[in-house]
Amino acid sequence: MARLQLNKLEKVYGGGFKAVHGIDLDVADGEFMVLVGPSGCAKSTTLRMIAGLEEVTGGEIRIGERIVNALPPGKREIAMVFQNYALYPHMKVRSNLAFGLKLAHVPKAQIAAAVDEVARILEIEPLLDRLPKQLSGGQAQRVALGRALIKKPEVFLFDEPLSNLDAKLRASMRVRITQLHKRLKAEGMSSTVVYVTHDQTEAMTMGDRICVMKDGHIMQVATPKELYDRPANLFVAGFIGSPEMNVIDGQIAGSNFHLGDQSVALDGRLLGRLNQAPDRAAFGIRPQHLKLTSAPGGLSARLRSVEFMGHEVYLHAQLNGHDITTVAGSAEYDAMNRADDRITLSPDLGQAHIFDRDSGANVSLPLAG
Ligand SMILES: Nc1ncnc2c1ncn2[C@@H]1O[C@H](COP(=O)(O)OP(=O)(O)OP(=O)(O)O)[C@@H](O)[C@H]1O
Ligand SMILES: [Mg+2]
Repeated sequence: MARLQLNKLEKVYGGGFKAVHGIDLDVADGEFMVLVGPSGCAKSTTLRMIAGLEEVTGGEIRIGERIVNALPPGKREIAMVFQNYALYPHMKVRSNLAFGLKLAHVPKAQIAAAVDEVARILEIEPLLDRLPKQLSGGQAQRVALGRALIKKPEVFLFDEPLSNLDAKLRASMRVRITQLHKRLKAEGMSSTVVYVTHDQTEAMTMGDRICVMKDGHIMQVATPKELYDRPANLFVAGFIGSPEMNVIDGQIAGSNFHLGDQSVALDGRLLGRLNQAPDRAAFGIRPQHLKLTSAPGGLSARLRSVEFMGHEVYLHAQLNGHDITTVAGSAEYDAMNRADDRITLSPDLGQAHIFDRDSGANVSLPLAG
């Protein structure tokens, strides 16, 4: 059993700076939880408190049934993998893997079996007799993973473990770690994970659930699909999804959303979800849900630039003083009438949101319960 719970967890650093503002988070046994957010939002501080590397100044941390606030790192049944793999440079891979067990006086034969098992799982058997300097970045990161895995911890903690790798290797390590997690889970081994990243793609592709943080507060905790489809506020809407969601200021009047001299006729798909009509409103629509159209009644925008991405193009345009982006198929773009720089866009209202510009809250989510 390795459920992890943070209750009103708080961190005030020595100088008096409050980095973590009483956060609550419940990570289920075997769950892969991603902490994501911009630089400085306190992802590492939170993770380091869970690991026991940073003192807790308020609230509690539970691993399984135990409150671990006062336990030293070695007694918490956790293993941590950092961005810099911190392998011992003078030890071969085999000894790097075995080191923790050796310190714990585990019998030799048992260590050898554990090293073999971990090496097999991570496909690093051919590397066992090499020194760290003879490894590529991806190989070194796999050895670092192996050192965590061999401890059979209750909870795995990762702090940006892939950010030193190039894009291609990152993508393949993402898949590898996710598969490893599935496998540990299927084999009934402890597999609760808290994984820190600032990369929304990593968060979206790896997490069972994602905890989005900002300035030491939690903005939303939900599955990747839920965050994408139903962002709780403007911050989450802007942080999750690529290219970023378009957010256009305006006013709601009756069943219309007015933006400058144009308006969008809202229908039941959006009005039916609206639980408030804020004074200062913002219309949110993802680039993928804003389609080029030739039908009347669309929004007219001025095309500024085009990015060719291969099978699709990103069209950057101006609408009522806002920079907006839409995604179109390459063929669709080729077939477009480009006599002038106007484009006409039709938002999919079933996928659109209304935000309160002042509080940032999404006011177009059906109320829970
Ligand atoms: N030892 C410290 N003393 C005082 N303030 C600190 C200390 N360590 C971190 N902070 C501050 O706490 C806040 C959170 O830092 P933290 O390293 O947890 O952020 P992060 O989300 O991990 O950022 P990044 O994505 O850049 O790694 C920042 O404002 C940081 O400046
Ligand atoms: Mg950090």
